[in-house]
Amino acid sequence: MAWFFRRNKQQAAVAEQAKLAQQTQLAKQQAAGGEQFQWLGERRHIANAPYVLPSDDQEINRLDFQHYMLRYALRGNYAAPLTQPTSILDVGSCTGRWAMEMAQLFPQANVVGTDLVEPKSETVAASLGYGLDTRPENYAFIQGNVLEGLPFGDNSFDFVHVRLLLFAIPAEKWPVLAREVLRVTKPGGWVESVETGPQRNGGPAMDALVQWITQTSVRRGVDPLLGPRIASFYADAGARGMQAHSVTVPVGRYGGRLGNMAEVDVFSVVGGVKPLVVSQGITDADTYDRAMAQARADLDRWQCVLPFYIAYGQKA
Ligand SMILES: C[S@@+](CC[C@H](N)C(=O)[O-])C[C@H]1O[C@@H](n2cnc3c(N)ncnc32)[C@H](O)[C@@H]1O
Repeated sequence: MAWFFRRNKQQAAVAEQAKLAQQTQLAKQQAAGGEQFQWLGERRHIANAPYVLPSDDQEINRLDFQHYMLRYALRGNYAAPLTQPTSILDVGSCTGRWAMEMAQLFPQANVVGTDLVEPKSETVAASLGYGLDTRPENYAFIQGNVLEGLPFGDNSFDFVHVRLLLFAIPAEKWPVLAREVLRVTKPGGWVESVETGPQRNGGPAMDALVQWITQTSVRRGVDPLLGPRIASFYADAGARGMQAHSVTVPVGRYGGRLGNMAEVDVFSVVGGVKPLVVSQGITDADTYDRAMAQARADLDRWQCVLPFYIAYGQKA
């Protein structure tokens, strides 16, 4: 029974940390005199952050859908050779889908998700007491801005997972992020990063879309082409034995079930970034829409693919 009380104590500490992190985040926002979000057309974006993608209900649905697609394409939720971790952190956890599944997979572990945006499920749960029962009791969310450092002590976690933050982290900050991730990882613990890159073999219309999205990202300091380099950031930060591989996902009907899922995902991202591209005057809405329609029509002909880059290693 001792473990039960120990876990409750740990959970109380995590809950206290969560409350403090949330209050700090709110205070910073108020001090900056700003709203957390801004609207670009019909899409809501995080204000005052480099993050390129929208942050609204539509995007949350896409991310959940993408999570299931990735679990299928990557044959599981992680690649590192984990053995009974007792503490797991997910950086940029969004709805916490991945983290909650890990909490169920490793019931002996305390799993924490952290994100700049508090998921709606957290606020609904807090105000109504609703939703808490659907969340594993060994999972907690802590709000935080990873660009300001992770709100955890040194050597806190057996496993730290970072997935799809390429559109959130300015290129020059990746080495800082890798050092920060390793700081909170226990010696001998594992770090894992999963990133993507632009669609390839999509034909001229898809190439144009990729170029516009890259342009809009670069204006925010973000480089969507960094995926293949992700392992090197952790290796340079001191991780040992970094392993890296990539998985290429077909996009379009030619790719069967996975191809159909990837098509939905890709066009949801491309459509989601449109207001940002158009608001920056990179191209106009009609040209963008025509390129999207043409790129969709071309998927099978060119056999479009979407790469994912997976890297993991250990803290020395
Ligand atoms: C593309 S989503 C990936 C979500 C999740 N990791 C997954 O794989 O489904 C990126 C997430 O990073 C979060 N984010 C963006 N900038 C951030 C920052 N500076 N600190 C923490 N989280 C951030 C966004 O709110 C969003 O939930």
